[in-house]
Amino acid sequence: MKKISFDYVATSLVTNDELLAAGEKLQEEIERIVTARNQGYETDYASINLPYDSELSNQIKKIVEEKKSLNPTALIVIGIGGSNLGTIAVHEAIYGKFYNEQKPDINVYFADTVDSDYIYDIILLVEQKIEKGHNVIINVVSKSGGTTETIANFEVFLYLLQHYKKENYHNYIVVTTDEESKLWKLAEQKGFSRIAVPKKVGGRYSVFSAVGLFPLAMLGVDIDALLSGAQSIISNCIDSDINKNMAALSAAILSIHYNKGVNIQDTFVFSVDLESIGKWYRQLTGESIGKAKNKAGNTVNIGMTPTVSVGSVDLHSVAQLYLGGPYDKFTSFISVEKNKSNISLPVLDEFETLVDKIRGKPLSAIMDAIMQGTMAAYRNGKRPFVSISMPKKSAFYLGQLLQMKMIEMMYLGYLLDVNPFDQPQVELYKKETRAILAQK
Ligand code: PA5
Repeated sequence: MKKISFDYVATSLVTNDELLAAGEKLQEEIERIVTARNQGYETDYASINLPYDSELSNQIKKIVEEKKSLNPTALIVIGIGGSNLGTIAVHEAIYGKFYNEQKPDINVYFADTVDSDYIYDIILLVEQKIEKGHNVIINVVSKSGGTTETIANFEVFLYLLQHYKKENYHNYIVVTTDEESKLWKLAEQKGFSRIAVPKKVGGRYSVFSAVGLFPLAMLGVDIDALLSGAQSIISNCIDSDINKNMAALSAAILSIHYNKGVNIQDTFVFSVDLESIGKWYRQLTGESIGKAKNKAGNTVNIGMTPTVSVGSVDLHSVAQLYLGGPYDKFTSFISVEKNKSNISLPVLDEFETLVDKIRGKPLSAIMDAIMQGTMAAYRNGKRPFVSISMPKKSAFYLGQLLQMKMIEMMYLGYLLDVNPFDQPQVELYKKETRAILAQK
């Protein structure tokens, strides 16, 4: 089976000596992750064992079968941050941005923030279905079980469901949370289906747990392929030879540039359907690397700012800045070799005077030329970058990409001497919010 490719040699603008030094430094962390592969869900690296958990995937498939037997025509995923970004990313990469408009068997709605108008729009769409006699499944996803937005939205949709399904509303709810959370206990009391998230698996590393797998399987994604993709890249990403290890190489290159003051990291996807992969990675970087303190507890206020750009749209928005502005950015291009579709331009002679040399060409060839042109401009302008290419946007290759990026983040945390698994400052605003709500 092919795998995603990672190209950096001529474009990353790091020297062999710099890479060698980072590789030597990483040996200890590579060994730690190799050991963690045999320690189940006991260590901070627990997420790397999720793709091998057949008991979990069988449990998920059973609940999916049970809920699908209710013939739902909509799935409402209630969760935010690490509790829905991975699901959105994989779903959108596979099905595209117009999934709901394409009349699938099950529509999907993501209720994340508590924007009243946004939630109202979802309620209207869901009510239309329920009034026609359709069924909907609610999947509440919260590791802590106590995130304000998630619980508030859950209450809204629970109330709606109870209104229409007085007797058996509980059959339509699946709760994904930590076994020790209050939400888990509530779900038990109310008779909702429950799936546990292992304690040591944090939100942003949880896409291969029930957090991502249950909703994705409900929506028809081949979760076995997703997980086997993830498994298939792990040996590469724990190879002690850094030159063969794309996660370690990527982390090393990022840290080398960060240490020279390159503190913006752009994920530049050349596929509209991959935009949410960029947003998933933005959260992975933001929460894993953006830290006030290093591992020893000293104040360091560290972290690169992750951004997402979409090709070729954003070339008409920020390329001027990227190619002419300060040398403070590192770019990871992500592209796809084979599209699902194959559209070619007609041969219309009169259009040749508007833009020449595109007549009769496939759109993918034009897009490829734009991407190659962009990379050439980056190279000529000494703007550092790496490029990742996926053979196609399938569950298998998405499994590889997401797994590679999560291991990369563990290495990056090690190289920058911060804990990539906690998010103490996120708690600060959550605490303040609760205090404000208590006064109102
Ligand atoms: O990655 C993280 O840990 C966070 O983004 C959380 O996923 C987010 O804050 C939601 O938390 P919870 O899953 O506990 O509701």
